Amino acid sequence: MKLTVTEKIIKQHLVKGSLNRGSEIGIKIDQTLTQDSTGTMAYLQFEAIGVDRVKTKRSVAYIDHNMLQTGPENADDHLYIQTVAKKYGIYFSKPGNGICHQVHLERFGIPGQTLLGSDSHTPTAGGLGMLAIGAGGLDVAVAMAGGEYYINMPQIVKVELKGELCLGVSAKDIILEVLRRYTVKGGVNKIFEYCGEGVKNLTVPERATITNMGAELGATTSIFPSDEVTYEFLKAQGREQDFVEIKADEGAHYDEEIVINLNQLTPLIACPHSPDNVVTVKELEGKKVNQVAIGSCTNSSYMDLMKVAQILQGKTIAENISLVISPGSKQVLNMLADNGALSTMIKAGARVLECGCGPCIGMGQAPNTNGVSLRTFNRNFKGRSGTVSADVYLISPEVAAVSALTGYITDPITYLKDKKINAIDMPKKFFINDNLIISPAPENNDVEVIRGPNIKPFPKTEPLKDKVGGKTLIKVGDNITTDHIMPSNAKLLPFRSNIPYLSEYCLTPCDSDFPKRAKKLGGGMIIGGINYGQGSSREHAALVPLYLGIKAVLAKSFARIHKQNLINNGILPLTFESEKDYEDIDIMNDLAIENILESIDKGVIIVKNVTKNVEYTMTLDVTERQKNILKAGGLLNLMKKYR
Ligand code: F3S
Repeated sequence: MKLTVTEKIIKQHLVKGSLNRGSEIGIKIDQTLTQDSTGTMAYLQFEAIGVDRVKTKRSVAYIDHNMLQTGPENADDHLYIQTVAKKYGIYFSKPGNGICHQVHLERFGIPGQTLLGSDSHTPTAGGLGMLAIGAGGLDVAVAMAGGEYYINMPQIVKVELKGELCLGVSAKDIILEVLRRYTVKGGVNKIFEYCGEGVKNLTVPERATITNMGAELGATTSIFPSDEVTYEFLKAQGREQDFVEIKADEGAHYDEEIVINLNQLTPLIACPHSPDNVVTVKELEGKKVNQVAIGSCTNSSYMDLMKVAQILQGKTIAENISLVISPGSKQVLNMLADNGALSTMIKAGARVLECGCGPCIGMGQAPNTNGVSLRTFNRNFKGRSGTVSADVYLISPEVAAVSALTGYITDPITYLKDKKINAIDMPKKFFINDNLIISPAPENNDVEVIRGPNIKPFPKTEPLKDKVGGKTLIKVGDNITTDHIMPSNAKLLPFRSNIPYLSEYCLTPCDSDFPKRAKKLGGGMIIGGINYGQGSSREHAALVPLYLGIKAVLAKSFARIHKQNLINNGILPLTFESEKDYEDIDIMNDLAIENILESIDKGVIIVKNVTKNVEYTMTLDVTERQKNILKAGGLLNLMKKYR
């Protein structure tokens, strides 16, 4: 049988199921990664499972999200993660070493292996030919404990790249083009596999830009083959021994196919407030800009920042612009410092931030009121920047750099014409210094795990009762993101290990009284629209509603990772059979579900609206395994039951 790259890797890791599309599969996980904002909870859950050491080939704990340290909370979290990592066999990447996905690509990723990360941009490592999937912290904890990871076998989309990018057009424009065609919902239950002669013209970091932002399609992951370009990258990282060639078989079957002709691509831009709101840069040329931010796990590689330095060389940014640059890793920053590019950026007027997520996660650099911010990042949801009234546009490093100079949205093709700009080649050797990566202790006996006061236990759950009821505490519209459900900003990020504190902010961007109402009534139900929970793997978007007593979310449809997170935490994700019923339910209606345990097995749940004396038919589209998780009241309860 002729296989795609995806199928080859899945087949090698298959523990349960088959390659039949849509059927549930369990895959063995080789590597895991966590970042600090999801990591504290993942490690608390890992400890609760009760194994002595991680069972993966390699697990890495990164600190990159939350480094402002405006109070002791961040530092408490970092210390907990560092000590728990040391004890249980996990590598620890210290604050300042870089963004998890960039560092993982550089120092840990291995073609052909599986990676599960508690961050939705884990697919970045697909640029290296890994099957890399973002998941909730609990799934990652289970994988570290040796459990397999379950998904429904996705459809595989062939993205054939033809030709070569023109000067001023970049890998970011390729993924923006895919987003333009597929939208933020179009990738659900799909894996985007890149192939074609255009692939060989893209370096691994460029491929990683594409697989990174594939997350915005709602895709399970994205992947490139592992070829001679991959070998060159690993060799330049001093890791040629990790190279394995993986290419799709000639004539392998794909479920869908699209073609992108790179020569015909022009610079693109995603307009507020969704990454699929894509138009050409030309269409917006001349719009005044206040802030330009370069960095994030999408565009902070050495080559990205060298392109920026080249454009800024000998110039000064426009008077109306604040330009901030956050290099993706210490390796990148070291190399820019050594070759003078850092000095070029500083001379041009850039504010250079530490290597981390920074403004991407709203940790500083919020734009001015009603400001226009151009960002090389992957998300532009309303308020994520820290300024609700700001308009955030997503762009490539080239568009960012030229616009920082002019002060207006500027098409790099026009701007760079006749200027001496060269393509940036990948270095033959990257600067390697892993002194901020701490190895685990060989034995865990004498390592003490340090828990500061900010490390609070996570909410416990009970096995599912046969009858649940409650009021509809909130009714929200379509495309509610995890940022709406559990906002993540500079004020809240230090409290990621403190669910009681975070609960005060749950769904407040939609309704500021929601937490108060939920607490007063002892919990209830949430009514959601299409694609409820899109945007990130943030498990807190399930843990915090759980703490507030939410029993079920009734929605038109769910985002994949969030649905799994709800199930893992014992919250019923119910889908309206008829979307008209969504219209019928009002806030504070009394809802009741009876005979749940029996209905779960049938996959059809009748919800009674006691206030209006009508019934709604809801579907519970879950696998047998997920039914058992829900009955047990969550994955942790189920794991404990079988240990
Ligand atoms: Fe960090 Fe932003 Fe990526 S928060 S992991 S840089 S999406």
